[in-house]
Amino acid sequence: MTYEGIARVQAAYAEQFGTPPAFLVSAPGRVNLIGEHTDYNDGFVLPMAIDKKIAIGGSERNDDTVCLYSLNFEYQEEFSILSLQKKDSWTDYVKGVIDQLLKAGHSVKGFNAVLEGNIPQGAGLSSSAAIEVATAFFLARLNSIEIQAEEMAKLCQRAENHFVGMNCGIMDQFISRLGQKNHALFLDCRDLSYKLIPCDLDEYIVVMCNSNVEHKLVDSAYNERRAQCEEGVRLLKTKLPDITALRDVSFAQLENHASLLSPIIYQRCKHVVTENERVKTAVNILRKGDIAAFGQLLYQSHASLRDDYEVSCEEVDHLVDIAQAIEGTAGARMTGGGFGGCTVNLVKKSAMEHFKAVILKEYKKRTGITAEIYTSKAEDGARIETVE
Ligand code: GLA
Repeated sequence: MTYEGIARVQAAYAEQFGTPPAFLVSAPGRVNLIGEHTDYNDGFVLPMAIDKKIAIGGSERNDDTVCLYSLNFEYQEEFSILSLQKKDSWTDYVKGVIDQLLKAGHSVKGFNAVLEGNIPQGAGLSSSAAIEVATAFFLARLNSIEIQAEEMAKLCQRAENHFVGMNCGIMDQFISRLGQKNHALFLDCRDLSYKLIPCDLDEYIVVMCNSNVEHKLVDSAYNERRAQCEEGVRLLKTKLPDITALRDVSFAQLENHASLLSPIIYQRCKHVVTENERVKTAVNILRKGDIAAFGQLLYQSHASLRDDYEVSCEEVDHLVDIAQAIEGTAGARMTGGGFGGCTVNLVKKSAMEHFKAVILKEYKKRTGITAEIYTSKAEDGARIETVE
């Protein structure tokens, strides 16, 4: 995909620092087709990288200073590699990655860099993971550090967990680094083994509808869900000593031991256990090309996230509800962490114009908010960019 931001980064770098950048890299956002809130339960996910990305252009310096300029925010920050301070801003993702590289024993030189991206923030499309992966990819090359792709994804996850303080799973960083064009990635989040699944949707396309709402407390609610899952494992373990994560629990086992759990913990566990099953079924169905059946799983996933895991919100429920009533929609559900952001939809190409018009009009009528609609094919993960 050509992204005109690459040329803008190149030009802005030259303007800001007086020379062209040594090189440019990019890392994409993602949409998760199915498998939500399963990654940190050692479960399964099925995301694909999208055509929205973060680009970084930069060069090394001969001191320990980092000078970052964001074209999106028209904001510049300078800091020393030797004292990385959290600032509750996008630069924390860059600092978190530097911090993890240092902790892994690598030496990191000072650098100048310009960033620009077109992944909407807070939309559940992983703009933060894309900054982390683009930074790690950029710094690995700049400092001649060899890091395996899987290792880089893990390093970026640690940056988010330890520096940013968001206890996320591995999905977003993994797909941003390892995504492949025309494929969704079926990932086992326990051992990080994966299979690339051809994303052949026949007459359907992947459509994202952005609710343009981001409810507060997303991070704390996320961390709370994670803790509830761990509590579920702790309680179930008294009768199922071999389990280490909800991934190990079957639906029948959950039902047999439901009395060990409070109603809330039971609901959380039920979502994770059934969602893992849905991902495995979805992969088989996708291989057979049965888009109608795949779409039904998306609806089921949404209901489970809304009713059992309670991470949806009114606006996103409206988007799913409106989409479901449109002829030509095979399936729809919230995607990403929840509490706002995007839905992912499978829509017949021939119905797309109608779909767009109905979503925009009906969503505005119900909520007063203007939705945004994007489509994307499955794209490649992080890469070196050249200006054409
Ligand atoms: C966020 C996290 C991911 C994953 C999803 C929910 O995107 O970063 O690790 O847990 O939420 O599936």
